Amino acid sequence: MKCAILTGGGDCPGMNAFIRAVVRTVLNLSPESQVWGVLDGWKGLVENAYRPLNKRDVSGIAALGGTILGTMRFPEFATNGELRERAARNLEEQGFEYLFVIGGNGSVKAAWAVEQILRREGWRTRILVAPGSIDNDVCNNYGTSIGFYSALERSLEMLSWIRDTASSHRRVYLIRSMGRDSAYLAFYAGIIGGAEYAIRPHENVDFERLAEIAGQRDRDTLILVSEAYPKSLQEIQHILEEIFRRRGIEREIRAVDMSYFQRGGVASVTDILRASWLGYRMVCDALRGCASGFYTAYYIGHWQEPLPLEVAADDARTNHLDIPAEIIRMALALR
Ligand code: F6P
Repeated sequence: MKCAILTGGGDCPGMNAFIRAVVRTVLNLSPESQVWGVLDGWKGLVENAYRPLNKRDVSGIAALGGTILGTMRFPEFATNGELRERAARNLEEQGFEYLFVIGGNGSVKAAWAVEQILRREGWRTRILVAPGSIDNDVCNNYGTSIGFYSALERSLEMLSWIRDTASSHRRVYLIRSMGRDSAYLAFYAGIIGGAEYAIRPHENVDFERLAEIAGQRDRDTLILVSEAYPKSLQEIQHILEEIFRRRGIEREIRAVDMSYFQRGGVASVTDILRASWLGYRMVCDALRGCASGFYTAYYIGHWQEPLPLEVAADDARTNHLDIPAEIIRMALALR
């Protein structure tokens, strides 16, 4: 088999574990095979930029954050049909039988767009996609994306540091979390970090109630703010300060942004295990000549039929936009 691996969208811990799993499984189960890494994501595919990967190239990278293949934002790919045609043609001309992708919802949509060209032309490449994003914005009905738990670990650490200073100064901290238009990272970080509140992207926030919650706390109050919530931290701070003044609540407010720190660092054990499992499963299926598809898993050993790329791409549009109601009720019950 001649195949390629591509890491797309924002980097995340677990991508390297996935690369390692695919390379090692292909070369151990089918030693005559060739594995190539696509450099810098979908842009590299359009530009035919690859490097060969052997077993030694992926030594010691399972826990390493980021992606050794690189990734790049490439928004033109979503709008420019010519670029997608070129990517599909390159796959055919290079003779890749399989393209293994790990990425977020942008990569799922990109894979589906290229897949349609491949099938229209009758070209050979099949595309197998695993979810990799700190945003957890792909197919949440079927598990969580690789990288999400690592970003939560990072968030937990940062929240505990902020809690120390918040508590010492009797302060309210507004903490911005990444996640793009998905509420998951901010909301789950709020749950594990014991935050008093987590503002979701499309929430109609009751600031009077928020001020009341802060006022009831003896010392520290942590409020998570989703990346896509339209008000800036400063705007939220001013609104709350105004209410505090009116209600006679004597608490200082500070604002801090965790964003890019959440995306880096060592991968969590869950992400390493699931990335390894999915990489292994995908290669086993590829060696049997499977069709293109989207793979996901809750945990190592869990097996679920891959979804057609079309279904995954459609699901990626809306499935992450809010947290299931029962989990919101749970978070409130834990407060
Ligand atoms: O998709 C992952 C992510 O980290 C989002 O949470 C965030 O909105 C975005 O990437 C930031 O992208 P960039 O690195 O291009 O600024």
